[in-house]
Amino acid sequence: MSHASLLADYSLRPHNTFGFDVRARHAMHIDSVEAAAALVDNARIAGMPTLVLGGGSNVVLTRDFDGVALIVGIMGKRVIGEDEDAWLVEAGAGENWHAFVAWTLAQGMPGLENLALIPGTVGAAPIQNIGAYGLEMGERFERLHAVELATGARAEFDRDACAFGYRDSFFKRAGRGRFMITSVVFRLPKAWTPRADYADVARALEGASAYNAQAIFDAVIAVRRAKLPDWTVLGNAGSFFKNPVVSADAFEALKAREPGVVSYRQADGQVKLAAGWLIDRCGWKGRGIGGAAVHERQALVLVNRGDATGAQVLELAEAIQRDVRARFGVELEMEPVCL
Ligand code: EPU
Repeated sequence: MSHASLLADYSLRPHNTFGFDVRARHAMHIDSVEAAAALVDNARIAGMPTLVLGGGSNVVLTRDFDGVALIVGIMGKRVIGEDEDAWLVEAGAGENWHAFVAWTLAQGMPGLENLALIPGTVGAAPIQNIGAYGLEMGERFERLHAVELATGARAEFDRDACAFGYRDSFFKRAGRGRFMITSVVFRLPKAWTPRADYADVARALEGASAYNAQAIFDAVIAVRRAKLPDWTVLGNAGSFFKNPVVSADAFEALKAREPGVVSYRQADGQVKLAAGWLIDRCGWKGRGIGGAAVHERQALVLVNRGDATGAQVLELAEAIQRDVRARFGVELEMEPVCL
């Protein structure tokens, strides 16, 4: 059996959007489902801890990794079928997410345009159920294919098995590190309906009497560019915390003290708070620890000014959590995975 080559002392800098220069003892590029399934038979990596990396857009690498980093490069985009209501399109886990979204639009198959410009790969998208501007990936998801690393067995997960939640899935919890996602199938409805209620997007579309999916795609790109730092210039992992959800009672008590608190009532009566506002209100915007800082235009994003370490980012994140807890009595949960 042929194996992908095993690289030694490998810099993970190009494989994490914070740009931390940590090293893996070993690394392998996995370019096919067969290569993923063959890992279990590879005696050279037997017993080693593994770290599956896509674009590295949702990890904080705080130290060197004493194991084998598996860099997923399984490519391919294709329309695999259709029924009366929808097209089914499949993409390899290693495909760039944004390029895939642009490709679906070019095929005349809209539905993912609100998720334009999200960093990372197709294979990483289901792990935290990426979402933005009124749409979550889970709403367009059909199934995914994966390989169980310890056995080499191929597995298929439908939407229920993925257990998607807000920035959450089976793979972020129980399935963490167990499976390598190899491809994802999306269901794109033929009857397109715009999602343009999000205030920033609505503003960017203002003036247009009629708009199509391309216009929403362009508007989302403009909004993201205005607010969110480009990781190729200023390393970051997008929102660093989830927007916390509190009970209606806790919200009323908070609102009495902080009338300006930005909030969104949920279907179940609970209230989601804008974590960016909480952090901003604590005075953190633009401030930092060492090379790690809170972005100047969006307090929910922590950035690497150039010489930060993952440990400094974590130190900053913990200081922010303490301040938000002390001032508002609210717990902020980190969005990226810390290693
Ligand atoms: N706000 C401030 N100060 C700030 C930042 C935000 O006051 O520094 C307030 C503003 O009132 C603003 C509100 O918070 O209107 C919400 O901010 P924004 O519209 O930027 O959205 P967000 O809640 O901070 C979430 C997602 C983003 C996603 C946007 C748009 C989470 C954790 N984050 O951010 O997702 O792009 O909504 O849908 O849910 C990501 O997950 O990495 C991510 C970027």
